[in-house]
Amino acid sequence: MNINNNKQLGFDELDELVRPAPEVVEFEEVANKMVSRRGFLGGGVAVGAGAFVMGSTTLAAGKAMAASAEESRLAFSMVKANALDTITVPEGYKWEVLASWGDPLFSNAPAFDAATGGTGASQELAFGDHNDGMAFFSKDGKQIMAINNEYTNEKTLHANRADGMPANADDVRKNKAAHGVSIIEVAQRGGKWGIVQDSPYNRRITADTEMDITGPARGHKWMQTSEDPKGLVAKGTWNNCGNGQTPWGTYLTCEENFNGYFTANDKNYKMPEAFKRYGMSTEGRYNWAMADARFDLVKEPNEPNRFGYVVEIDPLDPTSRPKKRTALGRFKHENAELTIAANGHVVVYLGDDERGEFLYRFVSKNKYLAGGNNRDLLEEGTLYVAKFHDNNRGEWLALTPKTTGMTDAEISIHTRMAASKVGATTMDRPEWVAAHPHKAEVYCSLTNNKNRGVKPNAGGDATPASGPNPRVKNNFGQIVRWTPMDSDHTHNEFKWDLFVLAGNPAVYDDANAGSKNVNQDNMFNSPDGLKFDSKGLLWIQTDGNYSNEKGFQGQGNNQMLVGDPETGEIRRFLVGPKESEITGATWNAARTTMFIGVQHPGEGGNSHWPNGGNSVPRSSVIAISREDGAVIG
Ligand code: FEO
Ligand code: CA
Ligand code: CA
Repeated sequence: MNINNNKQLGFDELDELVRPAPEVVEFEEVANKMVSRRGFLGGGVAVGAGAFVMGSTTLAAGKAMAASAEESRLAFSMVKANALDTITVPEGYKWEVLASWGDPLFSNAPAFDAATGGTGASQELAFGDHNDGMAFFSKDGKQIMAINNEYTNEKTLHANRADGMPANADDVRKNKAAHGVSIIEVAQRGGKWGIVQDSPYNRRITADTEMDITGPARGHKWMQTSEDPKGLVAKGTWNNCGNGQTPWGTYLTCEENFNGYFTANDKNYKMPEAFKRYGMSTEGRYNWAMADARFDLVKEPNEPNRFGYVVEIDPLDPTSRPKKRTALGRFKHENAELTIAANGHVVVYLGDDERGEFLYRFVSKNKYLAGGNNRDLLEEGTLYVAKFHDNNRGEWLALTPKTTGMTDAEISIHTRMAASKVGATTMDRPEWVAAHPHKAEVYCSLTNNKNRGVKPNAGGDATPASGPNPRVKNNFGQIVRWTPMDSDHTHNEFKWDLFVLAGNPAVYDDANAGSKNVNQDNMFNSPDGLKFDSKGLLWIQTDGNYSNEKGFQGQGNNQMLVGDPETGEIRRFLVGPKESEITGATWNAARTTMFIGVQHPGEGGNSHWPNGGNSVPRSSVIAISREDGAVIG
């Protein structure tokens, strides 16, 4: 297996190469029959060993489906699925590009150069690649956005290299600079959104930006390296996937597949068990070790322990140092959904996006005080992991020295192992979490898991089809939601149900048809990005199979839908260009523009979005608004 021949694979696929799944097992058939379509039509269904009930949402969904468009809270006509190389939005809406990979943030920076993909120096002054999570900030009449740049399209970034791989130190510098976070001032000029070049807020945070390590792991011996012998200052952030935002004005960026950047060129190198749990391999996706010894596992065995965290950034202070918040645990972080509990504690919900990994909750030690000094609330608190029971109840299990036999620092660094020790529920790849803005109700995308019921997770934890993960070899994904007892986000018990089980009712009549609020008009697969708008409508973004054939026939490109938590109704709002995923969402202060991310268009070489013709595809943030200028969220 030579992973270096597979540079265009997604991180998920790369991990699969490292740990391949066995072929289909026969009990899949049996389980699928148990979760029959007929069962869903009944409004509740027994699944595997236990049972889950779709509850009022699914029962009400039938009513919502029958309701006329006028009665629905979803005030737009459904967009049809398609496989076009463009963005499709409902009638009465329009879109434009706000920023694309390689756009200069400063007037003295070189213009975007598609022929070479630019240089290290140009990329450090330009918008990063593969934009993902994002948030909008306002200060003194200025509008500032922080936007994650998760990873890169090597074919376009290294267009000057035949194999699309970094070939020298400047290529590595460019690749590292295409990762991280782009902070930009934006403005609408002549009716068109764009980057305000030379704004003092414009800033690139990359894989080389210094940041403070805070929380329990700060200074621990596993965090110490030759460049940082005290374990206090990490260099950089990468694979920044989803995000979060705090009420004290900071941005949270989440390090997801941090593992794929490290390599070891020594046949005698023995991978530690703790690294195996995080999917480390001796053959990474990039050649960063060529120019930076930090990425050589033989030379810097502790460097990987300094990544896989949530990083807090103050986008309104360009001189501030980002802070790694190790109290929120180390895993493949998707996003960080922060809410203030009724009792004032800060609660952050966190997904670990890997097959059979877990869903977490952080509760701060200290309380949020409006107008007070809240800057370090994420430095200290307790991490919990979710255990779902089949009777629609669940509980948060605390990860403490007492429950795990590990120190606080060890829990922060080896969080997956701590969660395995307390018997958490293995999940179908927890992606974004979104908390309802008007009531204590939380949603999480479980994007898919072809290994469900087939093989255990990397820690050996079983993955039975049950509870909120009811389908063996789950190709379509689902969205689970829970309500904490007493509407208290710090309560250790909750009730749960499934908001939607995605599927394809045009092809299947078994569990793969999905739940009742999925039909041939609104069907989709692999829910990923989730975001509530101010009205309490749930925007759902997909990152899944866009082949539009076999089990996915009729689903077209990746898309964005809107769900109504009260009725279960789901309606498709947008379809993305070829070979892209839709990810990240935020709104301007007036809520007249919605910004979303279009990531990796043409990852298979078949898109020229957004510029058309023979242009190279470029990941971009787009601005969507109504033609009448009214609020859209
Ligand atoms: Fe970067 Fe799990 O998505
Ligand atoms: Ca994602
Ligand atoms: Ca995904």
